[in-house]
Amino acid sequence: MAININLNDQALIDSVTAKTTAARNLLRQIATSYSPAVFANSLGAEDMVLTDLIVGDTAKIEIFSLDTGRLPLETYALIDEVKKHYGLKLRLYYPRHDLVETYTRENGINAFYESVELRKACCHVRKVEPLQRALAGRKAWITGMRAQQSATREGLPIQAFDEGNGLEKFNPLSDWSEKEVWAYIKLNKVPYNALHDNFYPSIGCAPCTRAITPGEDVRSGRWWWESPESKECGLHVKKA
Ligand code: ADX
Ligand code: SF4
Repeated sequence: MAININLNDQALIDSVTAKTTAARNLLRQIATSYSPAVFANSLGAEDMVLTDLIVGDTAKIEIFSLDTGRLPLETYALIDEVKKHYGLKLRLYYPRHDLVETYTRENGINAFYESVELRKACCHVRKVEPLQRALAGRKAWITGMRAQQSATREGLPIQAFDEGNGLEKFNPLSDWSEKEVWAYIKLNKVPYNALHDNFYPSIGCAPCTRAITPGEDVRSGRWWWESPESKECGLHVKKA
């Protein structure tokens, strides 16, 4: 478990129970009113909570992940575990090979360390362009973002129109705390990424994610060489 959870803490259990009901109801409403809707699953702790809620319900929401080609081995292991545990074959989207070849030929294999521009260009090729294909023809998409995760996510709404991608966007866990996420995982025996037990609260691509020291901001291990304001990959352009 990434953080210690006391299942005798009744206030915590009560808040998780209430928020779980609210999230489940919202997911059902999305499935009914915004079909076809999709859930973008990064396989992080929050996204495993949403996976558990979506798979455990009859509501129809497709689940996909963006395989950037640079994910940690632990994330690939979790994709396998999700298949075994839930019988769920995640739909995987890949970067266009021509764009990856041009990027690496022009800039190098690890050019994202050199500047914010080159980092964002890599995220564009490996995440944003595949996301655009995954969202094409959909009425809504769902993410596992929380408002407390970082300065860039403060005030994150549960629902907003995503103008950049032209569809509704839902963040059902926006008001959940990290403790509530882990309480859900423990209560429901949800599989999770082994890296979370090694001081990786937030996990992206392997070369752009490192462990944090206790007390640091949860996203401080992401693109750690950049300042907090630039730390979004382009999947989430506004607060939506
Ligand atoms: S991000 O900056 O990489 O987007 P984070 O890892 O906090 O940040 O992810 C936020 C949300 O973006 C996730 O809950 C998920 O909905 C979506 N997301 C991020 N990475 C992926 C991925 N590889 N595949 C699918 N969805 C993703
Ligand atoms: Fe490229 Fe790093 Fe962005 Fe992954 S997180 S797409 S490796 S810059």
